[in-house]
Formats: sequence, structure tokens, C-alpha cells
Amino acid sequence: MIPFLKWPGGKRWLVQKYPKIFPRQIKRYFEPFVGGGAVYFHLEPRRALIGDINTDVIIFYRGIQKSHNRFGELMNEHQKRHSGEYYYKIRATIPDDEVEKAARVLYLNRVCFNGIYRVNRRGEFNVPVGTKTRVVLPTDDFPAASRLLGKAEIVQGGFSTVIRNAGDGDFVFSDPPYTVRHNNNGFIKYNEILFSWLDQVSLADELIGAKERGARILCTNANHASVRELYEGKGFKLSVVSRYSSISASAAKRGYYEELLIQG
Ligand SMILES: C[S@@+](CC[C@H](N)C(=O)[O-])C[C@H]1O[C@@H](n2cnc3c(N)ncnc32)[C@H](O)[C@@H]1O
Repeated sequence: MIPFLKWPGGKRWLVQKYPKIFPRQIKRYFEPFVGGGAVYFHLEPRRALIGDINTDVIIFYRGIQKSHNRFGELMNEHQKRHSGEYYYKIRATIPDDEVEKAARVLYLNRVCFNGIYRVNRRGEFNVPVGTKTRVVLPTDDFPAASRLLGKAEIVQGGFSTVIRNAGDGDFVFSDPPYTVRHNNNGFIKYNEILFSWLDQVSLADELIGAKERGARILCTNANHASVRELYEGKGFKLSVVSRYSSISASAAKRGYYEELLIQG
């Protein structure tokens, strides 16, 4: 299945370029930083525990899980009524109904400026309207998503809540915000506000614990010495993968970036 939300750090490129790194037989699938869920929707696991700290992400998955019919109707309605004025009206009002809230998240994600996610200090989504006008895409399969999510447990919260439940025969895919110990790269520093170096250290501890309980691990991360040190000598295989990135406004910064794969 094709993911629905456009999400920073989305891993569609990883499933397309490196499909063999994901196991076929999984007792239960665990994804603590699910975001747009590129890997989850690619693998379509029969049993899953997915989570994220971002409440909008969770609202979206729970809403579509609850009613794909109503969700689809609401998205068609947003498509019909979309305009700059309509966008700002929807952005300013948070409905009470769970499915309406979920459709609002996907609507804003589809037509906001550059598909970025940003909130103000009060936690309100404050991205201006963008130039894209397609609210419903031909690849959207809401009934299939609802069936798949119906087999998943969806939790809002920190990564430990999810990873602590993983045990023998389970598979954990972990894709945290990339933070390194020493850095002078502005992009990574921005993420640091959301995910500190201490978070990165406790994530490694949680993943080591899950591996010791018999779970298989795949974690993506920044290819940086400080991150590699957290996993070296602990029975993980470390390798480097590359991706093409075009997100930078400056041509000099567009190109191939290396990322670290931690497998155990
Ligand atoms: C790199 S993104 C994951 C992208 C995802 N793999 C995809 O394909 O779209 C990282 C996610 O981690 C979430 N996050 C940040 N800090 C977290 C924490 N402490 N616990 C759980 N989730 C967290 C963010 O909200 C974000 O959705």
C-alpha cells in the first residue's frame, strides 16, 4: 500500500531501493516512530503495534481505522470545497468528531505549503496554504488502510511504550529523528529540539533490550561516529545506505546522502 501522509524523513525510498532488508515472516510488527508509515504500509503486517509522539499522526490513523466510509466522504468534501479561504477556515477549527479530525489532518497535509509539518508554541498547526490542489489521490485506498489498521494497536507516546512490548519473533523498525552528539549541521540541530542526544542513548538501550528478548531490529539513523558507537560491539550489523535528496533550496546541498542501518 502507498502511504498517505507526506512526512519529513519518510522512508518510501528505503523500501523501494532496499526491499530485501525487511523480513517476510514477522510474529508482530513494532514501529515506535511511525510518522507517514512508509514501511508499515509496505509490509502490511498482520499484527502490529505502531506509535508516535505526534498527536496528529495518531488522530489520523485512529480516524481511518474507525470509519473509512465516513473518512472517504469527508476527504471528497474537502476536495470539492478546497480553496485558500477554505484551507484557513479548516486550519483554524479543530472538530470534536474523531473521523473529522483525522480527515482534517490529511487534508492539511496534502495542500499545505511544501507538505511540511510545523506547529506554533501552543501546538497549533501553522503552515500556510501551498500550491497543490489534489486532496484525494488515485493511490488512496482508504478501505484497505482501515482493514490493515484494524489489525494494529495504535499508541500515542514516547518510543519506549512501543519497544518495551517487543519480544521473541517480533520485528522492530525504528526510524527516529536524526540527532548526533557533536554537530554543526543546522538540519540535525533543529531536530535536536525534538529528540535530544539523551533520547538517542535511551533508544539504543531499548533496542538492545528488545534484541536480548529475541526481537529482530532494524534502525535507521545518521551515519555519524557518535551514533555508531552506541551500537558497536553489541551484536548489531552496521551498514551504510545512500539516498538522493532534493529538499534543499540550494543546488549545492542537493545530492546523495548517507544513512546508517543498524540491524540485529
Ligand atoms: C523520521 S520520522 C519517521 C518517518 C517514517 N518512518 C515515515 O516513513 O514516514 C520520526 C517520527 O518520530 C516521531 N517522534 C519524535 N520524537 C519521538 C519520541 N520521543 N517518541 C516517539 N516518536 C517520536 C516524530 O513525530 C516523527 O513522526
